[in-house]
Amino acid sequence: MSASEYTFNVASSCTKCSACSHVCPSGIIVMTADGPTLPNAKICIRCGHCVAVCPVGALDLSLTPLANQKPIDATLGIDSERAEQFLRSRRSIRSYRKKEVAAADLTRLLEVAHYAPSGGNTQSVSYVVINKREILGKLSALTLDWITEMSKVNASMRSYSNLISISRETGTDVIFRGAPALVVAVGSRKMPIVRDNARFSLAYAELFAPTLGLGTCWAGFFEMCSSAYNKEVYDLLGLSEEQMVVGALMVGYPKYHFKRLADRNALDLRFL
Ligand SMILES: Cc1cc2nc3c(=O)[nH]c(=O)nc-3n(C[C@H](O)[C@H](O)[C@H](O)COP(=O)(O)O)c2cc1C
Repeated sequence: MSASEYTFNVASSCTKCSACSHVCPSGIIVMTADGPTLPNAKICIRCGHCVAVCPVGALDLSLTPLANQKPIDATLGIDSERAEQFLRSRRSIRSYRKKEVAAADLTRLLEVAHYAPSGGNTQSVSYVVINKREILGKLSALTLDWITEMSKVNASMRSYSNLISISRETGTDVIFRGAPALVVAVGSRKMPIVRDNARFSLAYAELFAPTLGLGTCWAGFFEMCSSAYNKEVYDLLGLSEEQMVVGALMVGYPKYHFKRLADRNALDLRFL
C-alpha cells in the first residue's frame, strides 16, 4: 500500500492523551480538539508506534494495522538480573552436535530476528539459509582459499595462517566449525545502512537461538570473503551482483554448554 492511500481511524474511545503524536518519529500526527489526525502520511516510516502506544486501542492506521499488532503480555517480562544472565551467557559456539536443524526452527529463529531495529525502519535485510553439508563444504573451501590468497598480500590476514594450516593438515572446518546450518543476511549494495540493519537482526538471532536449544557463531571470515564479491560464492548463494552479503551466522546444536560467565575488559565509560 502506498503512503498516499491510507486510512487513519480514531475510535470514540480515544482519550486525546496525545501519546500517538508524541511517539511518532516523523512528527506527522497532528492533535486537534477532536483528537489525533494524520493529514499526510508521505513520510510515515510504518513503525507502528502510534497504534501500539494507544492505551485504549482507539487508533488504527492502515499502513500499520491494529489487527497485526499482538498485545504485549506484561506477565512475560524479565527482571534485570535474569536479563543480565541471559545476555551474558550468550557465547560463540564452535563445537556442534551432528544434528540437523529443522527448517521450521531456522524459520522461527529468523522470524524473531527480523523484528530487530533498522535505520528509518527500512528493514531491507533478506536471508539465505544453507543447511546442506555439500554447499557448506564448498563455501568453506572457497573462504579458505580466499584467506590463503589474502594472507599473501595482507599482513593482518597473515595472522590467520595458523587456521589455514590446521584446516589443510587435519581437514577441520575452521570456517563454519562443523555447524549444520549457515544463515546469510543479504542486502542491496545501493543501501549502505543495510549492513547495520543486518548486524542487529543477526544479534537478535544470536540471543534468541538458545531458547530453541540452538547455538550460533558469527561467520566473519565467510562474510569478509563474500562481501569482497566472490563470484563463485554468489553463484552458490543464488545472489546477483546488485546484492551483497551483509552478515552470516553459523547455527547448530551446541556440543558443550558453558557453566560460567566469562569476564570482559573493564567497562570504559565517561560521563560528561
Ligand atoms: C562481526 C563478528 C565476526 C566474527 N567472526 C568470527 C569467525 O569468523 N569465526 C569465529 O570463530 N568467531 C567469530 N566471531 C566471534 C568472536 O570471536 C567472539 O564474539 C568473541 O571472541 C567473544 O566471544 P563470545 O561471542 O563467546 O562472547 C565473530 C564475532 C563478530 C562480532
